Amino acid sequence: MGSVVLPRRLEGKVALITGASQGIGEHIAKMFIKNGAIVANADIVPPSATTEDSFTVDDQILYIRCDVTKEFYVEDAVKTVVDKYGKLDILINNAAVVDPPKKCVLDNDLNDFERVLSVNVTGVFLGIKHAATVMIPARGGTIINLGSISSILGGQTSHAYSSSKHAVVGLTKNAAAELGQYGIRVNCLSSSALATPLTKMFFNMDKEGQHEIYSNLTGKILDLDDLAYGALYLASEESKYVSGHNLTIDGGYTVTNPAFGLFSRINL
Ligand SMILES: NC(=O)c1ccc[n+]([C@@H]2O[C@H](COP(=O)([O-])OP(=O)(O)OC[C@H]3O[C@@H](n4cnc5c(N)ncnc54)[C@H](O)[C@@H]3O)[C@@H](O)[C@H]2O)c1
Repeated sequence: MGSVVLPRRLEGKVALITGASQGIGEHIAKMFIKNGAIVANADIVPPSATTEDSFTVDDQILYIRCDVTKEFYVEDAVKTVVDKYGKLDILINNAAVVDPPKKCVLDNDLNDFERVLSVNVTGVFLGIKHAATVMIPARGGTIINLGSISSILGGQTSHAYSSSKHAVVGLTKNAAAELGQYGIRVNCLSSSALATPLTKMFFNMDKEGQHEIYSNLTGKILDLDDLAYGALYLASEESKYVSGHNLTIDGGYTVTNPAFGLFSRINL
């Protein structure tokens, strides 16, 4: 039997992804390219020369230097994409930072708090605003904001990061409420922890550690493809009636308190 060739689900689409020089954003970018999209990466640093499959190998990928906390850069990133490719179909607000973990609120630093809110919330707001300048006249588009299980649960990460990720869900709902009238969908994509540079910095975490902490689904391990497939679904026409939603890819982690363990107490 011959191998099945799957249809490319983003053929002809133009996507802008913030923070795609590494980690989840980079992986989503590669998945989108495989599916026929043209991708631009708006990141404060260029992709590392050591990155496997570096973007430079593919002329569909445009690197745009951008600090998402500054309106000028975000406006310029959207304009650069539209000038080069004629449109913007998909925006992924992926760039985010995390502050160093602290045991006590008293040790938290205001500068750290404001820096995290500025990238993780203001950056998303600016992305939505400037994508909307081209998506409203086009009467369509899809925006995906990266959330987290820290958008849903407390006690998982720092106060700043948790506040910022809860805010992203609120912003997603508000933007969906406004932009739906123009046919623009706005959704959130959340997950439990993956061993990317961001989580390695916060938790000092490796792949195995991540599985032990966040597993509620025996025999499955969250990987970058799970996130990228979620983004692919939210970006494609397959989710044409989905807006204002927080698609949470966490193997059921946020729907239960494993310490209570009702089902492990029942002897069958
Ligand atoms: N890694 C996880 O376990 C996890 C889990 C849930 C959600 N998320 C979310 O997924 C997204 C990506 O996370 P990641 O783990 O890949 O992070 P990462 O640190 O590996 O990558 C983040 C990227 O954002 C860029 N960036 C940082 N500040 C920026 C700025 N001001 N302007 C433009 N770009 C900037 C960085 O240069 C980097 O390339 C984030 O929104 C994060 O909150 C991550």
